[in-house]
Amino acid sequence: MRKNKLRILMGVIFVCGFLCSTAVNAMGNKDTDKTAAKTESEQNIEKIVFEDSFEKDLQGWSGRASEVLKIVENNASDGKKSLQVSERTSTWNGPIKDITAVISPGKSYKIGLWFLYEEGPEKQDIMVSLERTLGSSKDYINIGGASVPRGDWTYIECQYSVPVTKNPAQYRLYVETKYKQDDQATKDDLIPFYIDDVRIIQLPPPRPAQVETDIPSFYTLFKDLPVGAAINSIDLDSTKLHNGLLRHFNVFVYENEMKPESLQPAEGRFVFEKADALVSFAQKQKVKLRGHTLVWHNQTPKWFFQDSQNPGAAASKDLLFSRMENHIKTIVGRYKGKIDSWDVVNEVIEDNGNLRNSAYLKIAGSDEYIRNAFKWAREADPAAKLFINDYNIEFRGPKQDALYNLVKTLKAEGVPIDGVGLQAHINVGFPTVNDIRNAIRRFASLGVKVQITELDVSIYGSGSEPKKEADREILLEQAYKYRDLFKMFQEEAAAGNLDMVVLWGLSDDRTWLNNFPVPGRTDYPLLFGKDLRAKPAYWAIVNPDKLPIGIKNIIAYQNESLNPADPIYSYINSTPIVDQKGITYGSFKATWNGRSVMVLATVLDNSPDAGDAVTMYLEPKNRRLEKKSDELISISVPRSKATQDSGSEYTVFAEIPFTPKLESKVGFDIKIQNGSAKGISMQSWNDFTNNQEKGTVNYGTLSMKQMPRTLDVKRGSITFSRNKDPIWDTIEPIPMTVKTMGVTEEGSTFKVLWDENYLYVLMEIKDELLSDKNSNPWEQDSVEVFIDQNNGKTTSYEADDAQYRVNYRNVKSFNGGDEERFQSISRIVLGGYWVQMAVPFTHIKPEAGLILGFDVQINEADATGSRIGIRNWHNDTNLGYKDPSGLGIVKLVE
Ligand code: XIL
Repeated sequence: MRKNKLRILMGVIFVCGFLCSTAVNAMGNKDTDKTAAKTESEQNIEKIVFEDSFEKDLQGWSGRASEVLKIVENNASDGKKSLQVSERTSTWNGPIKDITAVISPGKSYKIGLWFLYEEGPEKQDIMVSLERTLGSSKDYINIGGASVPRGDWTYIECQYSVPVTKNPAQYRLYVETKYKQDDQATKDDLIPFYIDDVRIIQLPPPRPAQVETDIPSFYTLFKDLPVGAAINSIDLDSTKLHNGLLRHFNVFVYENEMKPESLQPAEGRFVFEKADALVSFAQKQKVKLRGHTLVWHNQTPKWFFQDSQNPGAAASKDLLFSRMENHIKTIVGRYKGKIDSWDVVNEVIEDNGNLRNSAYLKIAGSDEYIRNAFKWAREADPAAKLFINDYNIEFRGPKQDALYNLVKTLKAEGVPIDGVGLQAHINVGFPTVNDIRNAIRRFASLGVKVQITELDVSIYGSGSEPKKEADREILLEQAYKYRDLFKMFQEEAAAGNLDMVVLWGLSDDRTWLNNFPVPGRTDYPLLFGKDLRAKPAYWAIVNPDKLPIGIKNIIAYQNESLNPADPIYSYINSTPIVDQKGITYGSFKATWNGRSVMVLATVLDNSPDAGDAVTMYLEPKNRRLEKKSDELISISVPRSKATQDSGSEYTVFAEIPFTPKLESKVGFDIKIQNGSAKGISMQSWNDFTNNQEKGTVNYGTLSMKQMPRTLDVKRGSITFSRNKDPIWDTIEPIPMTVKTMGVTEEGSTFKVLWDENYLYVLMEIKDELLSDKNSNPWEQDSVEVFIDQNNGKTTSYEADDAQYRVNYRNVKSFNGGDEERFQSISRIVLGGYWVQMAVPFTHIKPEAGLILGFDVQINEADATGSRIGIRNWHNDTNLGYKDPSGLGIVKLVE
């Protein structure tokens, strides 16, 4: 009974979004005490409110069921003893302790503990959770967890903000392995484990909101590019805090107060006070205005579309058009000469490229209403720039194509349209800066103005992502995205392609994304924070020296060779060493074996000097210490010992003696010393303060992973006719040997080729019995290609990652990618079938030497249409559809 409840309630909690962030080994053990003691006198400190080190007794911990808890000696993350948990019979069994007395509603906490298991699988998923009792109901809140390697004490850290509830809740903290039903849990899931040094740290309350008056005004950084923000009429009140942020912008738009429902709430009753206030503010301050919006399917009152006599019936086309004409001419006419740009029509196209089936379209029957809207707006103010505005047009797809074609047609027919507004409600991961640049250029090529009209950069990838904290890492990622975006904006403005940029709000406390697409899932998409202070996103553009330092994570691959020229290095991405302004100084690659971590680093430096050197730092336990680690290993290689030196760049190789284990993580940094007559300048991969000798707080992280399977792919183009291209006969087939699931026939193979546009894949499948009965395409007899174009090895899909699936009858299905350019043919043959595919390159320029993440898969169905087997070239996790980190690697060669 209990296990079911646990599972169901956890599901609910995930949706409610109490999920907190997790970090492994993210903080030191013993040394944090001193840090805390040192800073206790300072304000805004993190305070340790609870600590169990198990040096004496169980300290109030008990088992959740009948598992056995014991204090054991000589196995501890620190000190001598730790808490051992054994004889677990369900995954949810583990140690639990009441912590109600140490946490308070309304406050936020970091909860950290050290975890170890010694027998069982190479790694295991561990969960840290809270059991909350409110009255007679219990729920289970997962606050974090980690994938922990066997045999290494690993630090797991979570965050939790205790909600304020009507009645006080009781909280118990517990640790378990990832949930599985009892009949599916194996010995691996029921491993005995140890925990130690459990610690709860109270986080300082958020800083009070304050507008900084001594920082540069944002828009002044851009030349010939007006930069604006959406505001509300209340922000014009100089006694209000937010008013202080207006100095950062020289364009404004009302977020809501010039929409149809605000300006004409009832037919003929125009309400102009707030709009008038904005217009006179702009006249006084000499700033530009956008008018948003005249025709939109949202926030337009119902009466607009109703028959005047009979509100139950729709208005006639004539009536709708006369109302539109009156609305547009009254408003645009009133502010004639005072509004720079009008969003004449907003969001008239659907994601699939069709005209939106709005009340306007239903009544008008065609896009005539769009043409008329522009005509009437032009008549009312010939000088205002007239825009069509939309979202999801910042990247390639049917919607962008449809809008492009619409604008082209309207222009050709003489409709007075001046510009395209890209709303740009984007997120940290998607679309890329390059996607947006291409969109700007594509629309600009139509001879219209392009504006970014509603920019915000969400920290969430989609509406299904649970609520999360905006930690330092995500805010930095966002900062770099903003930096690269505005750099691109400035370039496109200089090239005459971009006219204006407007952010959709002043600060994170009031962004509409706090309630969209998920009510209550707070977001952090703008330049100023919930406390109104400038965020890393602002500083990344204004002064990168003021950015906090993030912790970068990269992979070291297992490698038995000590040879710096070993070909393995040509299958590993190089990690750039770049400063906070985005300037690159060099790059490196890391590998490991049972005796050492090896680093191959290349430095761009065209003035050889005796002071040139590269130093590597490794902290074996990945502890974040404010002082020099007593276990620190560092190695310095002078340029004179370079394995290669062309005069303009040199390469060094270092073998750092150390015994890493698979899946373990170490603290790591690399520093370039550039000698010259003036002295030595330094540049680091992670610690921009170059203080690696003084502490490990700002080190990056190296994770030890197995080297994936690799394949060299030759250049060659194929053509699509009825049959497969004969060029395949010259290519060696690669066997598909990885049995990911169930039963599949032996003998299937694949071949790959590349040219400047496509990766070509031929899959020849042995399968006597073919079925496409199942409605799930992945359960039909089919093949799949997974591609990670930047070989980013991320654990979720980025824009360059895609999955293409084709069944034996050539029916295609997609996950990401470019559906339009993808091509395939298939044929059933004796004993099986083949599929020939052209997988488009969308995010990279292919060239010899380039590496990509790649895998192929066979789905095998039985006669009833159920999938009975999966076979791959490399990855046996069956997670390729959502997690490209496990893909193999292909290298493009001539
Ligand atoms: C949003 C506002 O920000 C919210 O305050 C309001 O509740 C709904 O509308 N595209 C648009 C904007 O064109 O008008 C929308 O603004 C966001 C999406």
